[in-house]
Amino acid sequence: MSLLFSPLKLRSVTLKNRIVMSPMCQYSAQAGHVTDWHLLHYPTRAVGGVGLIMVEATAVEQRGVISPDDLGIWSDEHVAGLQTLTRRIRDAGAVPGIQIAHAGRKAGTSSPWQGGKPLHQWTPVAPSAIPFGEGWAMPAELDAAGLDQVRQVFRQGAQRALQAGFRVLEIHMAHGYLLHSFLSPLTNRRSDAYGGSRENRMRFPLEVVEVVRAVWPEDLPLWVRVSASDWVEGGWDITDTVTFAEELQKRGVDLLDCSSGGAIPGVKIPVGPGYQVPFAAQVRLSTGLSTGAVGLLTEPLQTEAILQAGQADLILLGRVLLRDPYWPYRAAQALGTRVWPVQYERAF
Ligand SMILES: Cc1cc2nc3c(=O)[nH]c(=O)nc-3n(C[C@H](O)[C@H](O)[C@H](O)COP(=O)(O)O)c2cc1C
Repeated sequence: MSLLFSPLKLRSVTLKNRIVMSPMCQYSAQAGHVTDWHLLHYPTRAVGGVGLIMVEATAVEQRGVISPDDLGIWSDEHVAGLQTLTRRIRDAGAVPGIQIAHAGRKAGTSSPWQGGKPLHQWTPVAPSAIPFGEGWAMPAELDAAGLDQVRQVFRQGAQRALQAGFRVLEIHMAHGYLLHSFLSPLTNRRSDAYGGSRENRMRFPLEVVEVVRAVWPEDLPLWVRVSASDWVEGGWDITDTVTFAEELQKRGVDLLDCSSGGAIPGVKIPVGPGYQVPFAAQVRLSTGLSTGAVGLLTEPLQTEAILQAGQADLILLGRVLLRDPYWPYRAAQALGTRVWPVQYERAF
């Protein structure tokens, strides 16, 4: 039996295999609400054999959306649509997970097919008043009351995710969004207890983990997605990530989803097949924390080899699942396993 198609238990949740759909914004929500697009798009990948569907970055407050077309979880009114979505994902055979997010200083752009440019419709918030780049809004530096509000919206987002029936929760701390921008010295220039040393820069993201873990049930897994490296000299790097992983582990985080980049524009990233896998491997080896590998993982044998080598516990697939929702069936055939649903038995 391949490892890719072996189950994995995290707290009380058993995934039927190690294939996770990576969170991918669909820019198809209406005022944060689930639409028919989500109700077709996600369950299709569940029918396709994915073990866990991580629903896209879902904003914990309105000023934290990447685009106004993002999913939201800032109001009780968002729960009903998300409930329909989790039921359909479960009915189609996968575990529903959700990534809760705050875009910080990168909030408020148009969707990619409308140019992905800053809309300047509101003032975004950040650890420090530094815009992401030329033409981007000047963010307001969060003060004590602002920090408290952000902690509270993450807590409420976690509570609503539970009500909606999600079984795995991921906090988005990657790609230059709010919590990553606290971690990285490139974007955090604060002189209070939340800036300066690595310990100080980790403080606010860790506080968010604490308030979320306090309301997210003991028997359900909590994940964090990080940018394991800014890929910039003097930026956040894998050594920082290992230290951060140790702190997350102490606070009840079950898995680190290891992405990279996004803190500042114009960075050269050595993108290639499996280029972020060494981050997942190093965190797993150094801390014993479970990890997810992501980024240009497209071949069944490649993913199996990562698991066999102990570099990660789970494989997150992004764009390949947009191109081919039935990737897991092909992978199973390549690895000599049968996984199709009984309803499709006569086709194989
Ligand atoms: C359309 C699209 C939307 C994305 N949205 C998110 C997101 O909501 N949250 C996130 O953490 N990463 C997001 N990503 C990054 C993916 O989750 C993934 O890490 C990245 O695409 C690399 O994996 P891949 O090579 O398998 O696509 C997005 C990527 C794409 C292509």
